[in-house]
Parts: sequence; structure tokens; C-alpha cells
Amino acid sequence: MITESIYLDHQATTPLDERVLQEMLPFLTSEYGNPSSPHTYGEVAARAVRTARRRVADLVGAKNEREIVFTSGATEADHLAIVGAALAARPHGGHLVTTAIEHKAVLAACQRLVNHHGYTLTRVGVDRHGRVLPADIAAALTPHTVLVSVMHANNEIGTLQRLTAINEITAPRGIVLHTDAAQSAGCGLMDVTELGVDLASLSAHKLYGPKGIGALYIRGGIRITAQQTGGGQERGLRAGTPNVPAIVGFGAAAHLISTGAVTPPPRIRALRDRLQDRLLTAIPNAVVNGHPYQRLPGNLSLTLPGVEATDLLDRLPGIAASTGSACNTGSGEPSHVLTAIGLTREQARATLRLSLGRTTTATDVDRAAECITRTAHTLAAVPANTA
Ligand SMILES: Cc1ncc(COP(=O)(O)O)c(C=O)c1O
Repeated sequence: MITESIYLDHQATTPLDERVLQEMLPFLTSEYGNPSSPHTYGEVAARAVRTARRRVADLVGAKNEREIVFTSGATEADHLAIVGAALAARPHGGHLVTTAIEHKAVLAACQRLVNHHGYTLTRVGVDRHGRVLPADIAAALTPHTVLVSVMHANNEIGTLQRLTAINEITAPRGIVLHTDAAQSAGCGLMDVTELGVDLASLSAHKLYGPKGIGALYIRGGIRITAQQTGGGQERGLRAGTPNVPAIVGFGAAAHLISTGAVTPPPRIRALRDRLQDRLLTAIPNAVVNGHPYQRLPGNLSLTLPGVEATDLLDRLPGIAASTGSACNTGSGEPSHVLTAIGLTREQARATLRLSLGRTTTATDVDRAAECITRTAHTLAAVPANTA
């Protein structure tokens, strides 16, 4: 058990909420029925899955719980959304539009369609804050475009996109709009009706639920070709015996957010701002990445010129944070997100992602700021603030 570390990596994953665990436990022990079984065990499991589906639907503002399809996580949901919607729309065209800062799950799904199914792909760039201009999306569309995929909140720099404006461009043309909402749903920021998206990918472990479970929101009427077939579960869109304990946990985590039973995002934002202020004061040449305001409340992506972020973290075993995103860590390649917003290779390597969550305290923030500052000053030619 790690007790000493300050956990500042909530965008990689979040701890399981104790209340979520309590709701899951019976389904890991006594209530082990298969929801497809026609007896009491099966009925108990089926009822629990129905409740969870309703709760996830409520979290994202879906009108009907049938619009929620459980998957193994956001990676699978991205894949089902992109490959499934594009293949279903094949008679109407074979062009896809996405952005330069998407999660690798989205980029890989698009690339699979290019490599194996003959689709063409346009990756739209972003501004220095990581925002896509809706006009650039409009300019990328062709008469053959069938799908646009734009993430709601970025997992490295936290920037939020203008999905409503993008929907105003795609909807009149009958183009399916997908969003990866893995990072935003936990902050209560994803409302599919308000934002007008047709497909939204979700992940439970980003919102204090268990790992290995997620969902795809599929607006009624949107056609999807199933990617995993077999037993016909999830309305034939995702075969396989449902992971009942994990689904129950996802539902419980969603319900806690919808009912306001968790730390409110403004409190997390206030702590993030405190950490940001402390670090910028102590390390005056540090640069904050991402949009100044339209950004996830817990996100702080910071470039510390002259400092190798991996060296910094190696020297700070008491702080659990990451360089870029967890997915890029270890690859040696600079983050495609950071280079897309204009950072050089060196600047990308000097970038630290600190992400705060529900259990982060002011003491954590102050201690982390002090340790990071001290180590950054020792490591590099980061000028100390003499003011
Ligand atoms: C934006 C985004 N999409 C997708 C994923 C993948 O989610 P999962 O771990 O549930 O497959 C992540 C997780 O890192 C993410 O941040």
C-alpha cells in the first residue's frame, strides 16, 4: 500500500469510491447471476444492470437508457463508435474527420478504417490552446464525409472543445458526430442533448468507478455495425456476458456525480489554481498548456523549460504524476498533443501533467508545489524567483 505519495494523476485513473465498492460487493459474491438467465439469480443481475444503465444515461443526459451500450472502457467505445458508425454509413461515403489531439484509441480506430477499409481521413489542427476551430471542421468536410470525431476534453492539456458549434455544422449535413468524453463525464460536463453529439465514449475508471468498464452513448436512430458479435447482448451491439459487478460500479459512480454526492468541481478547480499560482510564482519561466478557462478543473499541464520531466519525476517518488499522458509515457516519443499545440520536442519533454481529484487537499498542493519547485531548480537552469 502506497501511503506517502501525493497522487496527482487523476487523469490517468481515479481511486475507486468506497461507496461504489460497497454497491459492487454483492455482485462479486452472492449475486453472481447471469443477467440473461431466466431465474431469480438472473433477474437480480438484470435488474442491477438496468439500474446502472439508467444511472449512466442520467449522467450524460441521455433520454433513453437503451442509448447506453456497455463496453470494456473508452478504448472499446471509441472503436465501436468510429469503426461501427463508419461501416454502417459506407453506402453514403468513405471520408472521416478528426483532430490532431485525439486519444490514441480514436486515432487508431480511424487509421484502421484507412488501412483496411479504404476510407480517407482528415486530421484537423488546433490552436495553441488546443482548441479546434469549428470553421476548420467545416472546411474539412466533403460530400463523402460520414463521421466527425472530436474529443470533448483532452487528456493531457484538459482543453474543452466547442461541440455545440461543431454539431451545428455536422447535423444539417447528416454527418454523425462522435466525441470521446472519457475525461469530461466525471466532472458532470457531458450532456449529450445540450452538446448535440450522436455518439459519446465513456470510461468508469476516470470517474471513481472500476477499471475495465465503459460505455458508448448511441443516440436513437444512429446506425452502428457491431464489432463484437456472438450472444447478442447489448442489443446485439456488443456481445459477451456483461460484467455485472463492474457495470453496477459504473452506475453507482455515475449516480454519485448526478446527485451531487461528490466533491464539487469548483473546489478542485480552486486547488488546481492554487497549485498553478504557486508553481508559476516560484518558477517564473514555466508555461501552462491548454486553454486558460475552457479546461478541465483538475488539469495542470506545465512546461518547465530546461527540465527533463522524466528526470524530475524520477527524483520525486513522493509525487505520483505523469509526463504527457499515461499512454505516451515510456514510448520515448514526444506527445502528439503537445507538438500539435506548437511545443518543440524539447518543450514537450519538459512537460509535466499534474491532475487533481476529489481527495486532493490544500496540504497536498502546497507540498507538491514546494517539492516540484525545489527539484526543478536543482535540475535545471530554472531561474529562482528572486522577487
Ligand atoms: C480521452 C481518453 N480516451 C480514452 C481513454 C481510454 O479509456 P479506457 O482506459 O477506459 O479504455 C482514455 C484513458 O486514458 C482517455 O483519457
